[in-house]
Amino acid sequence: MITGAASGMARALTEVLVDLGAEVYAIDRVDSPVPGVKASFVADLSDQNSIDELFTTRLPQEFGAFFGVAGLAGVHNTFAETMTVNYTANKYLTDAYLADRITTGGSIAYVTSAGGLRWEYPEIRAELAPFTDPAADWAALTERIEAFNAEHGGELPGFVGYLLSKRALNLFVAERVETFAASGVRINAVLPSMTSTGMLGDFAEQRGGMDNLKAGSTGPAGRLAEPLDMARALAFLGSDLGGFLSGVHLDVDYGMNALELAGITPMRTNRTLAEMLAQRAS
Ligand SMILES: NC(=O)c1ccc[n+]([C@@H]2O[C@H](COP(=O)([O-])OP(=O)(O)OC[C@H]3O[C@@H](n4cnc5c(N)ncnc54)[C@H](O)[C@@H]3O)[C@@H](O)[C@H]2O)c1
Repeated sequence: MITGAASGMARALTEVLVDLGAEVYAIDRVDSPVPGVKASFVADLSDQNSIDELFTTRLPQEFGAFFGVAGLAGVHNTFAETMTVNYTANKYLTDAYLADRITTGGSIAYVTSAGGLRWEYPEIRAELAPFTDPAADWAALTERIEAFNAEHGGELPGFVGYLLSKRALNLFVAERVETFAASGVRINAVLPSMTSTGMLGDFAEQRGGMDNLKAGSTGPAGRLAEPLDMARALAFLGSDLGGFLSGVHLDVDYGMNALELAGITPMRTNRTLAEMLAQRAS
């Protein structure tokens, strides 16, 4: 089962898995363009009813792997919309449905982002904890997202939602390892660097144009990532090749995070959201 399957990384993953002979259930706002999928479902991941309808009436009762890839860049979306699609939808459907549906030996893998790095720093984790609370259902999360926005002036841009959602989903992966291990299911995340997908135009807009984006985002590889680079990493994590991997946050960035951690390139990703917002306001 793959969300966001109509475009970018998830479309490439759909192609890889169909080629390998998998039965793929594709989910997106529009039908999957990939020939050979088992079924394509149109659903809106910003809407709890749409997710409930998908799981209760259309999807199978059992499946081997879930790939939560759908997302918004947060450039043309509000803070709340970005949080909802990138985070709330994944937490909700995982807690509400995946525990009962994924067969033993199966796997859950989300695409988060290099933008979600440093989630494990204590002061950053403290900002995320209200969102990963197992007791927080869709309505409670929606309230917490609104409250966070209100606390910071009520007009947070979508891109702040992007960072918060990606960091929160990374923490969520770690916090659900034991829950899913109890039923023999692994849970992981792929953290892509900048990738040539449908989202790239939005990121370029945010970074002052494509030339600026490329200058700051190519890293040691000397190029942006391609959707297939992410699809292969996801297929690996979801397969038996990754059979002893759980709680892994896999940087698919050709070493960019390693260079930051080693102090070879400047650390750009370690500020709390409160620090970022305070700097923005000054
Ligand atoms: N492209 C990058 O540089 C980059 C970098 C890091 C992380 N990511 C993450 O990668 C993931 C995949 O994005 P992509 O780069 O392939 O972009 P993309 O825009 O090509 O694909 C995203 C897909 O998500 C779907 N989607 C969005 N909102 C939806 C909704 N409400 N309901 C159902 N489907 C919805 C879109 O229709 C689209 O098909 C996202 O989670 C994104 O945040 C992207």
